Amino acid sequence: MRSAMHDIPTHGETVTSSAPGKIILFGEHFIVHGTDAILCAIDRHVYVTAAKTESGIHITSDVGELKTSTITEDAPTTALMPLHHLARAAARRAGYSGGITLQVRSEIPPGAGLGSSSACCAAAASAVLGLLGLDVSDTAIMDAALDAERTIHPNLSGADTTASLYGGIFLYNRGVGYIGLEPHRADRFGLVVSNSGTAHDTDSMVRRVQRFRDNHVAIFSRLRKGERELIQRAVEILSDLEAGAAAESLGRLAAINQSYLRKIGVSSPELDRLVDAMQKITYGAKITGAGGGGCVVAFADAGSVRGIVTALQKMGYRDSFAVGIDEEGLVLSC
Ligand code: PMV
Repeated sequence: MRSAMHDIPTHGETVTSSAPGKIILFGEHFIVHGTDAILCAIDRHVYVTAAKTESGIHITSDVGELKTSTITEDAPTTALMPLHHLARAAARRAGYSGGITLQVRSEIPPGAGLGSSSACCAAAASAVLGLLGLDVSDTAIMDAALDAERTIHPNLSGADTTASLYGGIFLYNRGVGYIGLEPHRADRFGLVVSNSGTAHDTDSMVRRVQRFRDNHVAIFSRLRKGERELIQRAVEILSDLEAGAAAESLGRLAAINQSYLRKIGVSSPELDRLVDAMQKITYGAKITGAGGGGCVVAFADAGSVRGIVTALQKMGYRDSFAVGIDEEGLVLSC
């Protein structure tokens, strides 16, 4: 895990930061309604380079470009708007009236439930705060990243940003925040992810679950209790360092978790088919993230993930890959 303060490795007027994406192993949606969730940071990253320029804000990335000619003007609502908001707010705080460029390079597919926007905001926050000589403590980076993300996801739990900042595998609770679990031992389980290719909209899925809860109070409360117990069991498994392989028991819990996610209405026929395909060749699979599209994650023995990826690709699920756990979190580098 990162230390509380960072040295700022500036080369002239340029700072680069990287932050990992994340997988929600258990607890998406229920976390919005008070349960814990278990997440891990993954070995796919976003890299943001911030530099000073004469004037304006200019953001370039694989998903497009955003440019304003002054540092104070509003930006249009696009996927890059949070980064513009972040740069403008930091400049105001620093009393800086020049320009800022942000170059974003991402290994994380957008809109797929792997935390691409949180990783972008966390990396951009540390790069911009560092560039402008502002506070780069964990708290300051977290506040700036969340403030940026909330411009497009107002009801955010903060779990994704926490993964991008701290890395590792951890329990997340909206009240308490990050509760680190034992460091991952790579021989205990492997993770395979398959991207359905359908982008999802987190806010509309969160609203859908809220409607389900309002219309089915007793059922939702039973499912939430089940989810809470499931997460307790997963924490026990993950914390038992003496135990051997955990893929089978975690996979069983994933399959149960998926049945809850289906009941609250965040799966789809396409995701059900993908989950079923993965379930047949792993110990258990579930949606990861908001659902409605995005990715499915499955638990498998560490030694068999490559074969499983190949098998999924042969079945036509081309965008399938193994993921490892990133223990480092956010990194400021040159
Ligand atoms: O799909 P993502 O990466 O946006 O994850 C959303 C997870 C939710 O639990 C549905 C919402 C949240 O803020 O935790």
